[in-house]
Amino acid sequence: MQIILLFGLVGVAYTAYLILRILFAPLRNVPGPFLARFTNVWYLFQVHTGHVERKNCELHETYGKYNLLEGPVVRYGPSRYSFNSPEAIKTIYGHSTQFAKSSFYDAFMVPGVWNVFTERNIKFHASLRREFQATYTMSNLVNFEPYVDQCARLFDQRLHEVSVAGVTIDIGHWLQCYALDVISQITFAERLGTLESGDDIGGVMKALEDSFYYASTVGIYGEVHPHLFAVVSFLDRLGVGGKGKGLGYVIKVAQEKINAYKAKPAAIYEETQDGSEEFVSKFMKQNATNPERFTTNHILNGCAMNIAAGSDTTGISLSAVLYYLLKNPGCMDKLREEIITFRNDGKLSESPTYKQSQDMPYLQAVLKEALRLHPAVGQPLERVVPEGGATIAGKYFAQGTIVGVNCWAAHRNKAVWGQDADEFKPDRWLTKDADKLSAMNRNWIPFGAGSRTCLGRHISMLEMCKLVPRIIRDFDFELADGLEADWKTVAYWFVKPSNFRVRVRIRSTVP
Ligand code: HEM
Repeated sequence: MQIILLFGLVGVAYTAYLILRILFAPLRNVPGPFLARFTNVWYLFQVHTGHVERKNCELHETYGKYNLLEGPVVRYGPSRYSFNSPEAIKTIYGHSTQFAKSSFYDAFMVPGVWNVFTERNIKFHASLRREFQATYTMSNLVNFEPYVDQCARLFDQRLHEVSVAGVTIDIGHWLQCYALDVISQITFAERLGTLESGDDIGGVMKALEDSFYYASTVGIYGEVHPHLFAVVSFLDRLGVGGKGKGLGYVIKVAQEKINAYKAKPAAIYEETQDGSEEFVSKFMKQNATNPERFTTNHILNGCAMNIAAGSDTTGISLSAVLYYLLKNPGCMDKLREEIITFRNDGKLSESPTYKQSQDMPYLQAVLKEALRLHPAVGQPLERVVPEGGATIAGKYFAQGTIVGVNCWAAHRNKAVWGQDADEFKPDRWLTKDADKLSAMNRNWIPFGAGSRTCLGRHISMLEMCKLVPRIIRDFDFELADGLEADWKTVAYWFVKPSNFRVRVRIRSTVP
């Protein structure tokens, strides 16, 4: 009886504490779901449902209306705040920012093994980034065009076969196969082989999917990750399996590829005939020149990072381009017209080059618009307010508070994009109004922003700029579920299409 009484008293005291905390919290006026004031479970549940990106936009829509005085900020946890404005982007992510990544990112790494994406220490991250970034510049990457062409040709071949067979396919899956084989080729001078059969060779795709579910949920309680990861890995060794095994597995695959590469005769330090040099070779050279600055860990993490970050992202973005073109036949016609004109004028090769794609304004507008409406990452890019606190969007946030911008919310902010923010309108990027264009560019962050901007963005743009004109020129696509049906997506960090089915037909080469 006394025990029950004791528990009852503790319960009452704790409830009173929570209520008082909310009543007197300096940020009590920031609106958001009631439950999110007390606990991160609300956010965890939203992520678990697989549609957190929509919920995040909805919060800004719903509470933004009543929130004019407070600025564009909403709460999604007791100490978690989401923004959607250009000012917030500048303050939180601007160059030389002191807002470090939150512990959310820890769950994207094997405990104790650093990588550029997850590193929270600002100084260490800057030093890592310096070592890697030269390899990822566009001027360096255009040397990889022959590699990308090989994969694009294979992709084309598969579409021919599907077209002749008259079956529908999950094009989202095939686009991921393309992205995975390109990144593997660029990194190890060897395709994984997914484009041969569409099979998930070695289970890499599944491992990535598992790891993103794990990271997007467990990251919310980042401090739990080292312990949980140990348990999950142990169960995995027993053959019981579990979420989270993916990360370690991807690193293992990368290590095996590096070993195989080293074992190849004369592969090391030799550039291939066409001038391109795979990442692993570049990394090994850096290591040979200065093994203390560029360690064997740098080689491994650089290669593993490419595989982990470079397949879902590009695959999803390519899917978004195709989906929005199919949903908007007028835009598809306009793009095809540009492509055919370029081809007829001799300005588009059989394998389109990156340089040619840069001269195609409508193609570039389509890519930007698809990445606006469907940025690959669907959760806020969380950062921690630094020492001394910070004023964001007109409101003061104490140090230690978690703040972030979700690309989805920023990309649908009507104050920036107008009332047609939810519509696919590539023409908005062709405006002559320089101020408008600059404002749009400031709020366009599919690759993140500032010092943590995506290292691999040029690889992705290269892949997209080369594949999109090629397949739109060579094939007709039709949504298998009809024009009216919306596609289904599921968001665990990445907002991935599920079973995005299309019918494919070879186009006659005339006109
Ligand atoms: C369309 C394709 C891609 C999209 C939409 C994308 C998106 C992003 C975003 C939003 C971030 C910032 C995350 C944050 O601030 O928390 C990021 C960072 C990063 N991405 Fe990508 N990414 C893409 C392709 C790639 C590729 C192909 C690679 C590697 C080959 C890559 C490697 C990285 C790395 C290493 C970082 C961390 C950079 C740092 O923290 O310094 N990404 N990416």
